[in-house]
Amino acid sequence: MSKKTNKLRVLTGIKPTGEIHLGNFSGAIKPTIELSQNPENEVIFLCPDWHGLTNKGQIFQPGQLSHHVICTYLALGFELENNAIILQSDFSQIQENAWYLACTCSAGLLERSHAYKDALASGKEATAGLLFYPTLMASDIVTFAAHLVPVGKDQAQHLEYASDMVRHFNQATNSQTFLEPKPLFQDNPILLGIDGRKMSKSYQNTISLFGPQKETEKAVKNIKTDSKGLNESKNPEECLIYQLFCSFASLEAKEHMKEQLIKGMGYGYGHAKQDFLQEHQRVFGQKRELYEHYLNNPQEVQKLLKNGYEKCLNYANEVTQKARQALGLKSYKLW
Ligand code: TRP
Repeated sequence: MSKKTNKLRVLTGIKPTGEIHLGNFSGAIKPTIELSQNPENEVIFLCPDWHGLTNKGQIFQPGQLSHHVICTYLALGFELENNAIILQSDFSQIQENAWYLACTCSAGLLERSHAYKDALASGKEATAGLLFYPTLMASDIVTFAAHLVPVGKDQAQHLEYASDMVRHFNQATNSQTFLEPKPLFQDNPILLGIDGRKMSKSYQNTISLFGPQKETEKAVKNIKTDSKGLNESKNPEECLIYQLFCSFASLEAKEHMKEQLIKGMGYGYGHAKQDFLQEHQRVFGQKRELYEHYLNNPQEVQKLLKNGYEKCLNYANEVTQKARQALGLKSYKLW
């Protein structure tokens, strides 16, 4: 039997959409891994593969993409002893609770969601899945009774909706079934891509964590710079190479590059790019081997995730049972 603890239950997720890049690393992965290493927390990382299906292109590859995400968290040191990594589609309870939330939430709320309105405004086909997205996300959180949800500011509306939905449900059923979650907004700035726009796969301006070395070299070579010469002093705060470097480099390496840029004596952008590649290799090189190992050994990953999965199954069953009771649903099941 697992002991009752007073740990803060933290749940988060990132939609699996393809190759993992430095923007994902600094904005979501690193903070989550750090939270998992603090024994005061119990972190559940949920890989929302059902959410991925709202991108039509992913309908036939969600499993492949989510396995990459999970292997990345494992390779980078997510602590599994006290925490859990789970796959959304392994928990049918999430769909069930999403329905309960939907039945006490007005359609208007969902119609006002940014993602849905943006899709309509840009003439994209907005599926009912996209409309339902915030309900499913709220259910991810409440099904495991999470207190705290670390997310980027772009998820603020989703978290507001989750709170609203919980309140509506609890009020309608005159119960305390679902726990109202609190967002924990990450305040690190959005990482820019090699062209100076927000780093995003859709702009093709990313630097990947574990991608082929040749591609990383090419991307780093293409990081935009100004035309300051070898011996000119350069302002690190205005240097994209340095900004990107800060998302993963050690304190020492950061200091070194900063000093060299400011001094500028015989240290040009080419040198900074070399240092970048070296540090990238130092930080991610070894982990890449582990990542590839997990990628090729899904059964080993399954074993590693087992304890967390079972613990989360208990949470999900407990909450779902409460929701059924609050709604007065009957059952004729014989087990
Ligand atoms: N909407 C989040 C994103 O786009 C992903 C997500 C799904 C999530 N379910 C979640 C985040 C639950 C936090 C908690 O990145």
